Amino acid sequence: MKAEGAMPVDRQPVDNDPELLGLPVAQRSDSNASRTPVIEARELTKVFTGSKSIFRRNVDDIRAVTKVSLHVDPGSVLGLAGESGCGKSVTAEMLAKLQEPTSGSISYRGEDITHVGGARLSTFRRKVGMVFQSPFDSMNPRWKIADAISEPLRIHKVGDRSERRSAVMEMLERVGLRPAEYYIERYPHELSGGELQRAAVARALILGPDLVIADEPTTMLDVSVRAGILNLLKRMRDEENLAMLFISHDLTTLSYLCDRVAIMYLGRVVEMGPAAGVLGERLHPYTNALAAAVPLEDPDLIRPPVPIIGDLSSASATTQGCAFAPRCPAGGRVCEEEAPELLEVREGHYVACHLHDDSKVVKQ
Ligand SMILES: Nc1ncnc2c1ncn2[C@@H]1O[C@H](COP(=O)(O)OP(=O)(O)O)[C@@H](O)[C@H]1O
Ligand SMILES: [Mg+2]
Repeated sequence: MKAEGAMPVDRQPVDNDPELLGLPVAQRSDSNASRTPVIEARELTKVFTGSKSIFRRNVDDIRAVTKVSLHVDPGSVLGLAGESGCGKSVTAEMLAKLQEPTSGSISYRGEDITHVGGARLSTFRRKVGMVFQSPFDSMNPRWKIADAISEPLRIHKVGDRSERRSAVMEMLERVGLRPAEYYIERYPHELSGGELQRAAVARALILGPDLVIADEPTTMLDVSVRAGILNLLKRMRDEENLAMLFISHDLTTLSYLCDRVAIMYLGRVVEMGPAAGVLGERLHPYTNALAAAVPLEDPDLIRPPVPIIGDLSSASATTQGCAFAPRCPAGGRVCEEEAPELLEVREGHYVACHLHDDSKVVKQ
């Protein structure tokens, strides 16, 4: 992984808070202490049922996510990457209990929450903060920023009016929206994209969650403010010992922020493990192809990336073999006939590819 504090994504000034750039990363106290994951998914699957109406063209079922198993430890960031439409957001929504899984299970701190409702669901919701791709869509244009940030406090009946105002003021300062007295009176249209996304981070953190799910939080922002948001998330992770699921299709961003990385292809995890191992070795041809699209900057990580063949439209999740086989530069007969399992090939590093399964002969 990159040296801590180095900022490979861009070196532009942060929108209004330059000192956040290059902030030293605090030592995390619990690196080996509590190992119960904050959140854990086992074989999560989501199928959207197609229409079988006589009035409309029949639409096939969409297998958005297939048997995804992953976990996020306290104080640790798991990155989720893959092309658009591969199931990252649906996975995140299931983990946040915004979507019901078709099958599989979810545990929060070791407790099964797959089908919880009522008070237990409400307790879980307090512990999960979400940051979405577009701060322009996630903030109500008619509400002052302060009201948007304090909304979770109102929903969960935390504090009285003045306590909520103090909490919002403190949170504005912490996310770099200073002076808080200025920002507390603003409406969304008065803020830049970077400032709005900081407000969205403030809202995600206001209830003191222990898991933050950030779904492509910098994709819609100017390059010049992305680094500031990443550094903010990293600082919050360290200060609050947060677990974080960070979704991005940008491998450079993942290499900066994440401890572990999972690569998804057509709804399945095809490679997962320590960020340095997955992004450095890129054992799965698809991970390597993604790196060809977004070159990693660290020369130590480079092995020649192989360009991807075709596009997603030439791919289908229903092939009986490896779903990546039609686009794979290294594929052989076994890849077309048999789906590979996700196997542990180094400690904690998993890959679903026959090339890395000693019992399979890919080319003969
Ligand atoms: N509500 C829905 N109904 C039907 N299909 C959906 C729905 N939400 C997502 N999908 C489909 O599920 C797949 C995965 O979507 P998504 O998780 O949003 O991808 P990503 O976030 O990786 O770009 C896509 O094929 C998408 O069209
Ligand atoms: Mg998405």
